[in-house]
Amino acid sequence: MSRVPILSLASVEKVYKTGHHALKGVSLEVHQGELFALLGPNGAGKTTLIGIVTGLVKKTSGTVLVSGIDIDRDPARARAHVGLVPQELSTDMFETVWDTLCFSRGLFGKPKNPEKLEEILRDLSLYDKKNAKIMTLSGGMKRRVLIAKALCHEPSLLFLDEPTAGVDVELRRDMWKVVDRLRRGGMTIVLTTHYIEEAEQMADRVGVIHGGQIVLVEETSTLMKKLGQKKLFVELEEPLLALPEALASAGVELAAGGLKLIYTYDAKAEKAPLEPILRALDEAKVTLKDLQTKQSSLEEIFLNLLKGTNQS
Ligand SMILES: Nc1ncnc2c1ncn2[C@@H]1O[C@H](COP(=O)(O)OP(=O)(O)O)[C@@H](O)[C@H]1O
Ligand SMILES: [Mg+2]
Repeated sequence: MSRVPILSLASVEKVYKTGHHALKGVSLEVHQGELFALLGPNGAGKTTLIGIVTGLVKKTSGTVLVSGIDIDRDPARARAHVGLVPQELSTDMFETVWDTLCFSRGLFGKPKNPEKLEEILRDLSLYDKKNAKIMTLSGGMKRRVLIAKALCHEPSLLFLDEPTAGVDVELRRDMWKVVDRLRRGGMTIVLTTHYIEEAEQMADRVGVIHGGQIVLVEETSTLMKKLGQKKLFVELEEPLLALPEALASAGVELAAGGLKLIYTYDAKAEKAPLEPILRALDEAKVTLKDLQTKQSSLEEIFLNLLKGTNQS
């Protein structure tokens, strides 16, 4: 994958008039042709970040470049490089699909290009519905019209703000297919989501945002490995004063004054990672009171990351 930056944010801050500090020193790069998922809980600052890049929200400070164009220096030209499918679905229901696209393209001062619009409709399997009024379309097709609308001025970067929030499973899979096809067509895509599964299925890289801070940016495969971590908790009848060598060298930790053992392992590993631990426990002749395993959640990863950043 090429590493040509299409979007660069440097130290972006946003403080709303209410005094709410929605973005705290956000720096981020999105590369040409990648699908980047911005993952974070409600209120993390995802829509604020998109709003800043698309000119809907005024940043407090920092720098944003879109295709190398500074949004402060040349906002109109920078904006023309960006397509946005907003979180709130809103479009004129009484218009036809075709008129909506022509109007949207016109807003960006682009010359008419019916062939291009037809190509976009075909790519989104909407060509048959060209002359249909939007209100007559199914929910899935309405969403595709919004994508078509966001693409019709030929942007180089497409934002999808929570494209599958509040939709059923079938529609979600349909959206994934549409987005995947766009990506394979070479479009650079940033989508926001609070579904870890969505990021896992689709994204090349994932950025985790929490409390207005980017707490992690990783290749999706690396992040999923971290998410695959599980913890084994072993409660003992009698406190263990020292860990047997076999357990210590495997990374087992002693807690609760020797009454608890904690072992972190990769649940997705090929070999069953618990076997040697259980064997060592058996050999140590300890009496088990209880045994429990727990999947590390995104929430826990957030918390651990935040602890690591040493900020409030
Ligand atoms: N116009 C606004 N005025 C004041 N606070 C806002 C405004 N828009 C969003 N916020 C606050 O900023 C934070 C981030 O919001 P948002 O960017 O919408 O988060 P997300 O999209 O990740 O759910 C939230 O706490 C939200 O209440
Ligand atoms: Mg949002």
